[in-house]
Amino acid sequence: MDIFDAVASRYSCRAFLPTPVPEATVRDIVERAARAPSAGNLQPWRIYAIAGKRLEALRAQLRPRMAAELPRGEGGDYQIFMRPLAEPYSSRAFTVGELLYRSIDVPREDKPARYRQYARNYEFFGAPAALFLARDKSHGAAQWADIGGYLQTVALLARGHGLHTCPQQAWVSFHRTVRSFLDLPDHLMIYSGMALGYEDSQAPINGWRSPRAALDDFASFDGFES
Ligand SMILES: Cc1cc2nc3c(=O)[nH]c(=O)nc-3n(C[C@H](O)[C@H](O)[C@H](O)COP(=O)(O)O)c2cc1C
Repeated sequence: MDIFDAVASRYSCRAFLPTPVPEATVRDIVERAARAPSAGNLQPWRIYAIAGKRLEALRAQLRPRMAAELPRGEGGDYQIFMRPLAEPYSSRAFTVGELLYRSIDVPREDKPARYRQYARNYEFFGAPAALFLARDKSHGAAQWADIGGYLQTVALLARGHGLHTCPQQAWVSFHRTVRSFLDLPDHLMIYSGMALGYEDSQAPINGWRSPRAALDDFASFDGFES
């Protein structure tokens, strides 16, 4: 797969086949992704990869808590969206939510069904492997951005192996549980989770794609010779 196909075919996959991903493949992705750039070459990412019984143990811890604890969970240890979300961002988030829930026939008013789907985050959407991306608490905005670049590099390398991904900041809502599960050192905190595996191409939730703004809405070009 070339880089153009990898970028074009990456999407947030929310239903996976149980087919296991070999550890060697995950190691390869995690290692190669460290070619991502970072300011001052700090390489500020710290990655925890889990699979198999270990992954199932985390699911089992959270499963019985979902009904009582969603949507707040443990409250989150950082704010993912600054509220209120200004336009055009608010509408973009609304649209993607509409498309997601429409794909599985869940109406906006049906909160219990929405929470049930949201709870699938804490099953890693059935993925056989998962990553947690952690950051050093002493780092600032530039290092957060660098970890974002690492995350995207993982997603593209996953495509190179025929795999799909879903980044999951939903895990921040259960940061205490994840901290204790991973035995995370005090100086680190979770930036995001990420599901990794083979897509279930028949699942309706994987059957739509998020829209993008038109090029001229977010970029300008000046001084080029045509
Ligand atoms: C850092 C990050 C965290 C995300 N967290 C979640 C999440 O917790 N659950 C989820 O279903 N999608 C999550 N997403 C996926 C976004 O909703 C998705 O990237 C966006 O709607 C664009 O769609 P696409 O990835 O399919 O192109 C996250 C994406 C990023 C980059």
